[in-house]
Amino acid sequence: MKYTTRLNHPPAVKLPEDNRPLIAPIYQSVKFTFDDVAESERHSRGEREGFVYSRVSNPTLRQLELTLAELQGRDDCLLTASGVAAINLALLALCKQGDHVVLFAEMYQPTRYCVRRLLARYGVTHTMLSIDDIDGIEKILAKKPTRAIVFESPTNPVLKVANLARIAAAARAHGVVTVLDNTFAGFHNHGQFDIDVYVHSLTKYASGHGDVMGGAVIASKQLIDTMRTDFIIIGATLDPHAAFLIQRGLKTYGLRYERQCWNAQRVAEFLASRPEVSRVRYPGLPSDPGHELAKQQMRDFGTMVTVDLACDSDGTSRFAESLRLFAISASLGSTESLSQPGKLMRPRDLSAAEKGWAAVSDATVRLSIGIEDADDLVADLGQGLAALA
Ligand SMILES: Cc1ncc(COP(=O)(O)O)c(C=O)c1O
Repeated sequence: MKYTTRLNHPPAVKLPEDNRPLIAPIYQSVKFTFDDVAESERHSRGEREGFVYSRVSNPTLRQLELTLAELQGRDDCLLTASGVAAINLALLALCKQGDHVVLFAEMYQPTRYCVRRLLARYGVTHTMLSIDDIDGIEKILAKKPTRAIVFESPTNPVLKVANLARIAAAARAHGVVTVLDNTFAGFHNHGQFDIDVYVHSLTKYASGHGDVMGGAVIASKQLIDTMRTDFIIIGATLDPHAAFLIQRGLKTYGLRYERQCWNAQRVAEFLASRPEVSRVRYPGLPSDPGHELAKQQMRDFGTMVTVDLACDSDGTSRFAESLRLFAISASLGSTESLSQPGKLMRPRDLSAAEKGWAAVSDATVRLSIGIEDADDLVADLGQGLAALA
């Protein structure tokens, strides 16, 4: 081979059958080839396994899909380039013109945008309720033919706990597809409920280090198969290198989540004891409205703590700015702690009544608790509250 040919056809290195890498390699290849056309044809007819093109399927992504499906206790998974891509694609793939969707004021704002703006353009209608209004949820599902109900638990950002058993039962009774954004609770939670579709932002706890984005849709084989082609054609797939980083992050998911929950409980108890704090939302506190439900539904109480401070709007800024260990930042679920003042999460798309349900004000601060030493976190929050005086 001449120079430029060799550059484009490097020598193949074969691994002996009994000599495997301990960590699966990154298949950073868009294209895969079969040695002959007949096998390519057999593959395209679905008569044999294999890979052709990474937007359709890739071994590194497949390993992550199988891992996540098992962690959530379902058959299969589709990966996307971000968490919002997972939500948008799942709802797009499930809904058609004329369908009706139920959603909630207490949820991640882009999910509301997806239903109320994006899907609305294609003739999908919606009803927005409060996640606390379980009677209202049962009533609307009984009264109005509905394609899907999309919800979170605990909700972002005020950590309300949804009654999953009642929502799932009402949805099943009326043939409604349940779509749970399970990002906050994690893969190890909520698998026991009769939920059809779980979506996750892998940007958070799965990767865990704030350095990669991704999303996942996890469901039965039958549901995933009905959505698969739409996902492939829309093409918001995950890159193999991102999938590798997420798979690597998952190794410490259990350890991180456990430590973060433990820290969150300490932080919540500390904040609840302080006069500068008018309300602490953390499902692990016996005083929290969601505590009893969370005890029945979850293995733990999550890693987020949301407070309302007894101060004016400048006070929350002063508090957040004086914290040394909690960077002011969007996102959550990484190893380091973060703060997000309510001012940066104002639900501008909601009516006055809906804003009441959402319960986010300028006094609110959402804290994502990391894996630092709990004593240091508590001391930092203590000096932050002292700065309010
Ligand atoms: C509950 C929830 N779902 C989905 C997302 C979207 O995830 P991503 O940023 O990976 O698109 C977020 C992001 O903060 C979130 O909090």
